[in-house]
Amino acid sequence: MVYYFSGTGNSKWAAERIAEKTGEKTSDIALLMRGEEKKIIIASGEKFIIVYPVYAWNSPKLIFDFLRNVTLEEGATSCVVCTCGSEAGHTVSVLKKRIRLDGGYSVVMPDNYVIAFDVESREECLKKVAAARERLDMIADDINSGNLKFDVGVGKFAVLKTFIFSPLFSKYASGTKQFKTTWDCNGCGLCEKICPKGNIKIVDEMPFWFDDCMQCLACINRCPKRAINYGRSTEKRGRYFFDFTEKEIDEAAKIEKEKEEQK
Ligand SMILES: Cc1cc2nc3c(=O)[nH]c(=O)nc-3n(C[C@H](O)[C@H](O)[C@H](O)COP(=O)(O)O)c2cc1C
Repeated sequence: MVYYFSGTGNSKWAAERIAEKTGEKTSDIALLMRGEEKKIIIASGEKFIIVYPVYAWNSPKLIFDFLRNVTLEEGATSCVVCTCGSEAGHTVSVLKKRIRLDGGYSVVMPDNYVIAFDVESREECLKKVAAARERLDMIADDINSGNLKFDVGVGKFAVLKTFIFSPLFSKYASGTKQFKTTWDCNGCGLCEKICPKGNIKIVDEMPFWFDDCMQCLACINRCPKRAINYGRSTEKRGRYFFDFTEKEIDEAAKIEKEKEEQK
């Protein structure tokens, strides 16, 4: 089974690609964690693949909560695939302390952290997605052949980022007080529906954020009216959600291949 968590679609797409290539099914961790039955036993011979986005060079808290409920029996294969905008830090090493892992990979995809960065152009995003698709197929081959490995782009100063900056980020930079809506909000309720933690409630036709937030930014990035901001930082920035078609990805892959051949 491929278990995934995704705020803005990258990790969902990555999970579905791996599932397609390995003949596994997918399961949405956020839905699972909001249901009654959370315990999971992975029997010998079964595959346990987790796909999720890197948050501040570490894993979202939901992943740690989810793993608490997982029992891996001897002989089960386990592998983690994290998607990130550029560098994963030591997220996989941290998980390795919590659960037995046979392999771990990072996959670079478009960055959705619009609180700090503007979104990349569609062309840049597609370039990343085309490369990610190739990498996901390579990961699926490793899973199918049983030749799993650890291949994570940790980036520079990864120890500092994962073990010093990341806890600071969780403590000081991920509150909900700065979420606000403009008058363009029509109370459609999409943010309430898609929030993976069920942390948003529409009150008087406006969203209200409680405190159980991972900052996945699904609400900001997917609001159809572009009416949600985080402080003032996102006011002039674009929004990101994975909406690329296979045809677009094929074309981007073709362009990159031609560029490579001309070198
Ligand atoms: C709160 C937050 C923190 C992030 N931190 C990192 C990071 O440390 N390194 C990185 O490369 N990308 C980081 N990103 C970008 C995401 O990991 C990346 O865009 C991911 O593919 C999004 O996946 P999703 O669409 O499945 O939610 C961060 C994004 C968010 C929302």
